Parts: sequence; C-alpha cells; structure tokens
Amino acid sequence: MTNTFFKLKSIIIFCVIGSILILSCGDRGEMRPINEISQFVDALPNEVIYPADNPYSLEKEELGRLLFWDPVLSGTQEVACATCHHPDKGYADGLTFSRGVGATGLGTNRIGGMQTTRNAHTVINTAFNGMNIQGQYNPVLAPMFWDNRATSLEEQAGLPLLSKEEMRGSDIAEEDLMPLILDRLNAIPDYQAKFNAAFGTSVITQDLLLKAIATFERSLIATNSPFDEYMRGDENALSRRELDGLNTFIAVGCADCHSGPMFSDYELHVVGVPDNITPVDRGATNDFDFRTPTLRNVALTAPYMHNGSLRTLEDVLDFYEDVSEGGRRGNNNINANLDQNDLDEEIRDLRLNGNQIDDIISFLETLNDRDFDKTIPSSLPSGLPVGGNIQ
Ligand code: HEC
Ligand code: HEC
Repeated sequence: MTNTFFKLKSIIIFCVIGSILILSCGDRGEMRPINEISQFVDALPNEVIYPADNPYSLEKEELGRLLFWDPVLSGTQEVACATCHHPDKGYADGLTFSRGVGATGLGTNRIGGMQTTRNAHTVINTAFNGMNIQGQYNPVLAPMFWDNRATSLEEQAGLPLLSKEEMRGSDIAEEDLMPLILDRLNAIPDYQAKFNAAFGTSVITQDLLLKAIATFERSLIATNSPFDEYMRGDENALSRRELDGLNTFIAVGCADCHSGPMFSDYELHVVGVPDNITPVDRGATNDFDFRTPTLRNVALTAPYMHNGSLRTLEDVLDFYEDVSEGGRRGNNNINANLDQNDLDEEIRDLRLNGNQIDDIISFLETLNDRDFDKTIPSSLPSGLPVGGNIQ
C-alpha cells in the first residue's frame, strides 16, 4: 500500500519536474549560454588602462575637464570640445555634420558657421578604443576617427584644434595655432596653478595640454548597461525579447564586425552607405571604407554612420536588410560609386529579415548606460562662456 503510494508520488514528482524541464527548455531552446556569447560580444571592465607616460590623477582629470569645456582652445575663442561632445547629446552632438567655428547653439539647434564633413562620435568609452574580443587593448595604439587616422586619445586631442572648421577658423595659420593657445593658457594664473598641481610644472606645453584632455576623456566611461549586467550573471537584466535580439544579432552576422566588449573590431569595412556630400567621402583608403563604430550608447547618438545620413536605428537596420544579398533592393540602395560585389563579404552575407529587426533594436537599447559623468563646470579659468557659443 505504502509502496504503491510512494511509487505514485515519485511518478507524479517525476512528471512535474519533467514537464518543467521540457517547458523551460522549449522556452529558452536556442538561447546561447554566456560563455558562448562572450566569444562574440562581452561586458566591459570597470577599470581603464592608462598609458605608462600619462598615469591617472584626480588633478589631471579635473584640469582636463576644464580644458574640454573651454573655448580658449579655439582660434576664435568660441568653440570648445564640449560644443560638439556634450553630455546632453551623449557626448556627441546629434547633428548630421558638426558645426564648429562661427556657429551658435547646441545640438540640432546649432546653426550657421563652418560645417565638418563627418558625423561626430561620442567620447564616452573611447578609453577602450581598440579593445579586442579578449578584452585586451593598448591605450597608446587606440584607433581614433572614422578612418582610424589617429592613435591614442592624446594624439587625437590635438587634431580638432588644428581643423579649420572645428576649432581653428580661417584667420589663423595651422602652424600659428598651438603657440597662440599656449600663450593664452600660460597667461592665466589659475591654469598655471592647475597644471602645476597635475604635472609638477606651471609651464604649459602642448604635450601636457593633450595629456590632461586625454585623462579627462578616459574618465568618461559607461560600463553598467543591462547587457553588461546580464553578462556578469544577472539573468533578469534582459527581457526575453532582448535576449532574442542578442541571439539574432549574433546569428545573422552583426557580431562579425561589431564584436568584443566595445561591439567593434576597430577594422575598416566597405558597408556601402550612400553619399550625402560633395566631394564624395571616399573613406580611409579611397575604397569607401570606414571603421566599425561602437554600438555602446548607440540609441543616444543618432543620426548614424560616418555621414549621419541614417536618422534612426530602424533606418540603419532597413539599410542593412536592403544591401545584404537577402535584401529587397540590392544595388539601388548602395553608394552610387559601388557595386554589391564591392561590399565586404560580411555585409553581403547578412541574413536579415524584417521580423528580426525589432528584436535587434530592442537588444541595441540594452547597450545604453545613461549613468555617465554629466558634470558641467560652473565657470572656467579663462572666464569665457562654458562650452563656447552653445546658448
Ligand atoms: C566642431 C565639432 C567638434 C569639435 C569642436 C570637436 N570635435 Fe571631436 N569629433 C568631431 C567629429 C565630426 C568627429 C569625427 C571626425 C572623423 O572621424 O573624421 C570627432 C571625433 C572625435 C573623437 C574620435 C572618437 C572615436 O571613437 O574615434 C574624439 C576622441 C574626439 N572627437 C574628441 C574631441 C576633443 C578632445 C575635442 C577638443 C579638443 C574635440 N573632439 C572637438 C567633432 C568635433
Ligand atoms: C562588415 C562589417 C559590419 C557588419 C557585418 C555590420 N556592421 Fe554595422 N557598421 C559597420 C561599419 C563599418 C559601420 C560604419 C559605416 C559608415 O559609417 O559608413 C557600421 C555602422 C553601424 C551602425 C551605426 C552606428 C553609428 O554610431 O553611426 C549601427 C547601429 C550598426 N552598424 C549596427 C549593425 C547591425 C545591427 C548589424 C547586423 C544586422 C551590423 N551593424 C552589421 C560594420 C558592420
């Protein structure tokens, strides 16, 4: 009697556990385990590697922040780095092409002045530029810009100053700009004191100026997106739909290029985005090749692509669907100078259909971490308007 009862009980327990297992397997059937996902994309570390010759200090970071916001660094004293890399705009500017010298306003309200020929990147997480799938990177060799033409944040920081459209203006010759800026800075006692606190010398040089700006930029990291939490073990950080999107992102081939913790292989690729400017932008090596951008905080930094020609993430995904071989419109949607055969194989190989697009976009939203440093200095040692002519 008791025997039959126990048998019955075991059978019932067995059935219940069995159906739970079957149900949950069915539910999560195709979900990749975390150790498999991390061979494609992964969480970011919370710590940044600093170059041996430019170690971190709080004094340097805070000095770099003031310089980043100070239009004293531009020829006409009206454009700061923050003019085009503003925390309200995800440290980009929200424009198709940035507007530098002579323009006024912030973001899409910015009008007039000189225009750049490319869309501004975000500065958030550029501390990690160049990171590979294993999470390794060297800050001294970190690739910068859409064409990877600069390496390291230190080298990069010197280039917007010299750019006529961005910060120099047409009245000052390229070779005269840096001496002019250093003269200005060396005449401001507050900056002299702050350079002294950061570097142990109050003689302000180009080297120290760029090191301070780069140190500030390395502090602008955002490493706790829902995706990061999920990869660190919080199973509830992503919804079922977002997980489907992650799976699809890997399965259709997005992660062939948008790989590693930064969702970029930092390589140049021919994706075939149509032109919107004359003369046409032929990319890094004249082949219409551009660097894979990070997808971190991507929902905060529209419009998209090197030329800001795609307004929303839906537009980007529709574009990929069209230009891949599975696409509907093929050649009609590709840059007029290219044929579908000129595109990178990984683009032609994308197997994307309309149903997957919404899931992928939900997943891309999980790469946002809005909790980055948004501090705006209340005033600057130069006494100039904070962030330049952005009112
Ligand atoms: C007029 C607007 C403007 C100003 C001012 C400006 N930038 Fe930029 N920034 C851009 C644009 C546009 C790009 C992309 C250019 C390209 O790739 O060819 C860019 C790219 C960058 C990048 C590359 C990020 C990456 O992932 O490759 C960094 C870093 C950066 N800017 C930092 C700065 C710093 C530091 C300053 C001040 C010294 C500054 N910018 C001033 C518009 C601006
Ligand atoms: C062959 C490598 C490659 C593949 C595969 C690829 N991308 Fe890209 N992606 C790029 C490059 C390169 C750019 C920049 C192109 C340009 O500016 O002309 C880019 C741009 C983007 C952007 C715009 C980001 C920004 O800040 O402007 C998004 C979003 C994006 N890709 C998402 C995806 C998704 C989703 C997939 C899969 C459906 C995918 N990519 C597949 C290389 C690739």
